Amino acid sequence: MISLSKDITDAEVQAAAAYFSAMKPRSNIRVVETATVPKTFVAGWFLAALKTGEKEPIGQRIIEVPEDLEQFEHRDPRSQFNAYAPIGSVAKGAALVNTGGAGKTLQCAICHGQDLKGLGGVPSIAGRSPSYVVRQLYDIQNGARAGTATQLMKATVANLNIDDMLSIAAYLASRTP
Ligand code: HEC
Repeated sequence: MISLSKDITDAEVQAAAAYFSAMKPRSNIRVVETATVPKTFVAGWFLAALKTGEKEPIGQRIIEVPEDLEQFEHRDPRSQFNAYAPIGSVAKGAALVNTGGAGKTLQCAICHGQDLKGLGGVPSIAGRSPSYVVRQLYDIQNGARAGTATQLMKATVANLNIDDMLSIAAYLASRTP
């Protein structure tokens, strides 16, 4: 990406931004609350379900896999994903996102918009990949993501534990993007 971005002109950057920002986000994640999940393997940089159909306990994890591995590996933009989450996590996440969880965090709508689909320069968080969301919340809390605008997220993540992040991610993934 670095060598590619060094070669492109400002006009090309603008054309690419106009192209991508005109795209309508569409729903590609189905959140499934469950006690058991398909056993998975690491396929490149994501997880995929074993073809054997074997299952294992979910524990405190979100397991996100493409519904159709071949379709996803062929970069089909209509690929769908299943996000398996522990039972009750969507409701727990909804409470944190919508009420702030009795002072544990802040109501996300204040900055991300009433429908969580973004407000001005603040990004949409509705219908996003739960693995991505947990990574961002964790990285913001631990300082690995630390841009100027990121400072606005610091108070939101300060008191969240991994289970809270997981529940928030499950709820956000269940929203329409
Ligand atoms: C005070 C304003 C504010 C509040 C409240 C807030 N956010 Fe944010 N959030 C931001 C800003 C600004 C960014 C962009 C940060 C950046 O550019 O690095 C952001 C970024 C994010 C991102 C990364 C998105 C991406 O595209 O990479 C996630 C995930 C997120 N917020 C989740 C939440 C959740 C969940 C809540 C509620 C529990 C919340 N935010 C509450 C301001 C806020």
